Amino acid sequence: MSKLSVTQTQTVMQVQNPLPAHIGFVMDGNGRWATGRNKKRSEGHKAGVKNMQAVVEHCFALGIGCVSVFAFSTENWERPVEEREGLFDLVREYLKRLLGDVNKLKKDNIKIEFMGDLSPFAEQHQDILDGIGEVRQACADCDGGVFNIAINYGGRQEIVAAANNAVLIGKQLSQQDFEKLLYTKRCPPLDMMVRTGGQMRLSNFMLYQVAYAELFFEETLWPDFDKQKLDEVLKKFAQRQRNFGKV
Ligand code: FPP
Repeated sequence: MSKLSVTQTQTVMQVQNPLPAHIGFVMDGNGRWATGRNKKRSEGHKAGVKNMQAVVEHCFALGIGCVSVFAFSTENWERPVEEREGLFDLVREYLKRLLGDVNKLKKDNIKIEFMGDLSPFAEQHQDILDGIGEVRQACADCDGGVFNIAINYGGRQEIVAAANNAVLIGKQLSQQDFEKLLYTKRCPPLDMMVRTGGQMRLSNFMLYQVAYAELFFEETLWPDFDKQKLDEVLKKFAQRQRNFGKV
């Protein structure tokens, strides 16, 4: 999956082996980051997107195959319209940036997936749906890694949607076959989940996939959670003993 040179790979192996095959981020703390600087919350989200790009690029450069981020939850519709629309504008900008250099998208060889119920966007944000469609098309043949962006996502909703699809299939499914009905069908389960911003909860993020993940709750606010901070957490992950229920 990784496109690292042998030398880079060896260095990474020495520092933080084993790496997670799939890492998830709850990018919390953008609002507090902004208000602490007397800025609007929207500035915090802007800084959050910038940081997301740097952190995600770093993950793939290290050789992590799947990265998932929580960009907008089913509950985030309850935020003030201005903040919500500001977030959608950031998604628009992000899609525009990706589509501005399709060659780079193809060369990076990372499949970008959007997980969540995208149907409400048809009403007022059709351009976002169009952009997502174009990105999906541009990444159709990418197989060097998967970047899952959760938009209008909820873990319970994902499981219920998969269960309803299983009913349509009309027979009992194995765990493996059920997992093919989840948004993350191209990824292994989460090995590691990082939530920034000091809160210790899952907030309905990847409830199925998180079953045996190592959890890291960091005080750092998301825009300040840089590559160095991620490396520190990856080192701690490498030191954790994972038993998967065995002794
Ligand atoms: C939580 O911080 C963060 C969010 C609700 C949104 C995270 C979204 C992004 C970083 C942008 C994603 C955009 C793209 C293009 C994928 P908070 O506002 O709840 O922070 P607080 O707890 O300090 O108030």
